[in-house]
Amino acid sequence: MSAQLIDGKAIAQAIREEIRLGVERLRQEHGVVPGLATVLVGDNPASVSYVTAKNKACAELGMASFQHTLPADITEEKLLALIDQLNRDASVHGILVQLPLPKGICESRVIEAIDPRKDVDGFHPVNVGRLMLGDPVFPPCTPAGIQALIIRSGTPIEGAEVVVVGRSNIVGKPVAVMLLQKQRGANATVTVCHTQTRDLAFHTRRADILIVAAGRPQAITGDMIRPGATVIDVGVNRVGYTESGKVKLVGDVDFDSAVKVAGKITPVPGGVGPMTITMLMRNTLRAARLHLGLPLDG
Ligand SMILES: NC(=O)c1ccc[n+]([C@@H]2O[C@H](COP(=O)([O-])OP(=O)(O)OC[C@H]3O[C@@H](n4cnc5c(N)ncnc54)[C@H](OP(=O)(O)O)[C@@H]3O)[C@@H](O)[C@H]2O)c1
Repeated sequence: MSAQLIDGKAIAQAIREEIRLGVERLRQEHGVVPGLATVLVGDNPASVSYVTAKNKACAELGMASFQHTLPADITEEKLLALIDQLNRDASVHGILVQLPLPKGICESRVIEAIDPRKDVDGFHPVNVGRLMLGDPVFPPCTPAGIQALIIRSGTPIEGAEVVVVGRSNIVGKPVAVMLLQKQRGANATVTVCHTQTRDLAFHTRRADILIVAAGRPQAITGDMIRPGATVIDVGVNRVGYTESGKVKLVGDVDFDSAVKVAGKITPVPGGVGPMTITMLMRNTLRAARLHLGLPLDG
């Protein structure tokens, strides 16, 4: 038997349509266009492509985007001065600093300089704290995308055994916290694994929902998956080029063996990837609503 594919592109498209309508309503009723400032430091190819995609998504959904491209050798002081300027700019509702930053710039100092009310990535300590308390203004984008994928694929989360492989601050830890909350679309029993976990397969085989964010191709193989489980593969690993010359991407799950065992599985590409930018767009709309004193969802 072969697992059902969770189509991240189609789910992201449906959510983007909801956001587009929300943006249009805001413009008509309040004369405000949500604006996202993107800050790219240096020319790392992956970062360039992420920022380009974020600006393109803004245009497609009727939002404004303001791109700031800075040289890799910019000083931290100058970068902080730009953040300060964006914090005070009323047409900018969301600020996104593309990570990672070049060596020599302190990422946490830059993140903490962003006004928490404009921190659409949800990485500022104030927003991380709100997430922990179960009341986030800006749910971090990849974890929020994962949660939405699970819900919209029809997998029940309440009471489920969820196993997360990876404990990074941007994926593993926040998604574990989100699915643990005593709330609808959460309420799971969550286990978090990492490189010091003694018997990884023992845990992954117990999972009704397995979320893999390890950053290692084939970290999970079919024999480590419980039959019928929902598998969310967050990994994006560049492993050479396709015949047509495009970068070849694989996830952290060995798809060929996993698809025979899982009940539902996300492909790479076309699974979690499209959801991340969609959730950034949703947060930018929320930031504009916050600025206007409106309820965040609408
Ligand atoms: N699709 C998207 O939008 C999106 C967004 C963000 C990230 N990603 C991708 O998701 C992956 C994870 O990203 P990240 O930023 O969370 O990575 P990261 O910061 O490198 O963290 C990886 C985590 O996985 C754990 N790990 C690594 N190998 C493992 C293994 N063999 N067994 C158990 N645990 C293992 C590490 O454990 P330790 O803590 O012990 O080192 C660490 O906690 C990457 O491929 C990244 O490109 C995709």
